[in-house]
Amino acid sequence: MDFNEELERRIIEADAFIRRYLPKEEGPAAAVAEAMNYSVLGGGKRLRPVMLLEMYHICGGADPEVVGPCAAAIEMIHSYSLVHDDLPAMDNDEYRRGRKSTHAMYGEAMGILAGDGLLNYAYETALLSLEKQCTPATARALGILARKAGIGGMVGGQVVDVASEGKQIPMETLEYIHENKTGAMIESALMTGAALAGASEEVLALAEQIGSDVGVAFQIRDDILDVTGDSAVLGKQVGSDEKNEKVTYVTLAGLEGAEAKVEELSRRAMKNVRRLPGDASFLAQLIASLINREK
Ligand code: IPE
Ligand code: IPE
Ligand code: MG
Ligand code: MG
Ligand code: MG
Repeated sequence: MDFNEELERRIIEADAFIRRYLPKEEGPAAAVAEAMNYSVLGGGKRLRPVMLLEMYHICGGADPEVVGPCAAAIEMIHSYSLVHDDLPAMDNDEYRRGRKSTHAMYGEAMGILAGDGLLNYAYETALLSLEKQCTPATARALGILARKAGIGGMVGGQVVDVASEGKQIPMETLEYIHENKTGAMIESALMTGAALAGASEEVLALAEQIGSDVGVAFQIRDDILDVTGDSAVLGKQVGSDEKNEKVTYVTLAGLEGAEAKVEELSRRAMKNVRRLPGDASFLAQLIASLINREK
């Protein structure tokens, strides 16, 4: 099957899980549910749930009631991270996913609360996986999902990112930022999917390595697109990093250096994908397609 058609099918599948588990806009706190749904339902690429679902299947998992809640949950966590990332106190960006960012639409307080709501709702949702499959493997998966999003993962990366604004940081610090603010959530997608299917520690370690390489490559490409991208295609404004005086891979290694690094990391990830236990051809193609992505 054509890769793009297959990807479209996978995105629709991920989207169906996401919609199924989003909160209802009713009751006294309907306003926060509305803002939560607005932020999740913009034009996101759904990369993390697609990867989580794919890894679950590669590792032999077959129950949509087990994997669906975690697929929805990882997109909720990712969406909350974008809502807070766009706040005036952080990157101060008014556009996201092709429309006004959540705080620009609903105000700053509701932006903060929608992020809080999404983060908590992610775990309320992910725990449905444990209700369906109450095993140590599911507990392992939920532990990974929680830790990779936290201070030892995405939040930790965002902390160092924000603390580094306006400073000349070395490559080592930038690598820490990239591995954590972005790498950790891609690692989480692959590892959570694998763990839900009962994968061995060896496969989980391989998934972590692949996720780290893909995630860092993904963030370097994001840094490139912040300079060379088209905001109408990206769905977010370009020039955000320069505006916020952020050191990026492009400022440290140049455009060509950054492109070469994306290619190198992606190739290594694709090589490791071949060592996974099942048919990982779609995952390998997905990683290849991200090298030159324009959005
Ligand atoms: C944006 O992530 C933030 C980064 C980690 C670079 P995506 O590029 O996956 O954003 P969406 O989900 O498609 O909007
Ligand atoms: C953010 O990195 C990564 C997150 C954890 C949200 P960026 O700040 O570069 O992401 P964009 O460019 O705003 O999407
Ligand atoms: Mg940021
Ligand atoms: Mg940002
Ligand atoms: Mg960026």
